[in-house]
Amino acid sequence: MAGRMIIVSNRLPVTVTKREGKFFFNPSAGGLATGLGSFYRETGGVWLGWPGISLESARGHEEDIITKLGELSCKPVFLSKRLIEKYYYGFSNKTLWPLFHYFLQYAVFDQKFWESYRRANRLFCEAVLEVAEPDSTIWVHDYQLLLLPQMLREKLPQATIGFFLHIPFPSYEIFRVLPWREEILKGLLGADLIGFHTYDYVRHFISSVRRILGFEHSLGIITTEDRVLRVDAFPMGIDYEKFAYAPEKKEVRQEIKRIKRRTGNRKVILSVDRLDYTKGIAERLKAYDQFLEKYPSYKEKVVLILVAVPSRTRVEHYMLLKKEVDELIGRINGRHGAFGWTPVWYLYRSLPFHTLAALYHIADVALVTPFRDGMNLIAKEYVATTSADHGMLVLSEMAGAASELGEAIIINPYNFSQMIEALREALEMAPEEKSLRNYLMKNRLRRYNVNRWAHEFMEKLYEIKEAQQAFV
Ligand code: UDP
Ligand code: G6P
Repeated sequence: MAGRMIIVSNRLPVTVTKREGKFFFNPSAGGLATGLGSFYRETGGVWLGWPGISLESARGHEEDIITKLGELSCKPVFLSKRLIEKYYYGFSNKTLWPLFHYFLQYAVFDQKFWESYRRANRLFCEAVLEVAEPDSTIWVHDYQLLLLPQMLREKLPQATIGFFLHIPFPSYEIFRVLPWREEILKGLLGADLIGFHTYDYVRHFISSVRRILGFEHSLGIITTEDRVLRVDAFPMGIDYEKFAYAPEKKEVRQEIKRIKRRTGNRKVILSVDRLDYTKGIAERLKAYDQFLEKYPSYKEKVVLILVAVPSRTRVEHYMLLKKEVDELIGRINGRHGAFGWTPVWYLYRSLPFHTLAALYHIADVALVTPFRDGMNLIAKEYVATTSADHGMLVLSEMAGAASELGEAIIINPYNFSQMIEALREALEMAPEEKSLRNYLMKNRLRRYNVNRWAHEFMEKLYEIKEAQQAFV
């Protein structure tokens, strides 16, 4: 491998914010940043991405930010306010995100958004070219940078380029709706290896490539006009040991004690997500409401701790969801609450690791019920952290993680009564059965952890690079 590995994603693992003229550097939320964050440190590589702050806000302090991020092996790609609005909030999060998660009715198709998306991808390309060598290895991530592989290929024909999509790739019938579908596919095909979380997403992608561009495939090898590349599934894992051993850490133990003092003997149901409409948070709350209605004996015996991490707050559907969730919680607490018992505890913020790990450890049940989710690392982190005979995961079949966590209680998030019964089943499950199920899942997560995920991706990337020689 030549030079340092270059990782590129829209979001850096560190987000910079500015308050009262001061800059703050905090860990980014979301599966891409947390998952990949565990791996990239060992590569000795560099990570390029947007630091979460606009060019205008950073003005005059760029050097300080570059230096501070440089200490963490990150290199910022600054974006103007205008570009952030149209490329990040616009095409990435009002067009691609809803469409790829089957929320077709939320997707906006706007030529200006598309042009900004192309411009932003071009800026990322220029930033990579500043640090790359002709034969560098470059790993591009996620839906914000779908055009980047081909842009890089044109400038660095010899480079080894991998791409990984962290969200679902939708079925052809959904993808075909996108007015810029050809350009997007061609952008991706500049990579040597394209990775997805599941085989379903691989199938969907291959089918779109065949039907839209007419390129055939054989066993995951796609042949274009001038090159061959590979497509495969790599279900992303977690840093298993970090979560499994977290409850032994002093800071986490103290946090567990502190929270337990508050929950007392009540059973704890946990819900953690970015506040995103794909996660099914409002419906989860409605199911909890009906659960308390249907099984009143659980009143005062359970508490739902709902953690919602603020996300993409300038997008209308996120604002509407926030309002809906606030109101639902108010209604449930007003309706079922009693002196000394609040049915839903609501935290609208990002949590430090020790609090998150303590919550995972304490929770008797984790409710993970997205309508669509590329993978869902929360589900995996919970299984890794809980004691085998204590916790039980209720998981949506629409999350990529369901393919690997079949021993959880699997539900269809559109089926309300199934969700209610699953919650009851999880709360009442015997410790022996929980042990059996968790043991199997834990073993799988331990074996296929995030390092293995990254290494397998890299291995396959170099394999295809070598195989390409036979085709020239
Ligand atoms: N997470 C976080 N801060 C929090 C709560 C969660 O950084 O306050 C992390 C969590 O540990 C997990 C990630 O956010 O790794 C969420 O990833 P997931 O794949 O479940 O969903 P995504 O947000 O990527 O859609
Ligand atoms: C998901 C996406 C990531 C994104 C993260 C947080 O995990 O796949 O690409 O970084 O959500 O979203 P944000 O818009 O804050 O980067």
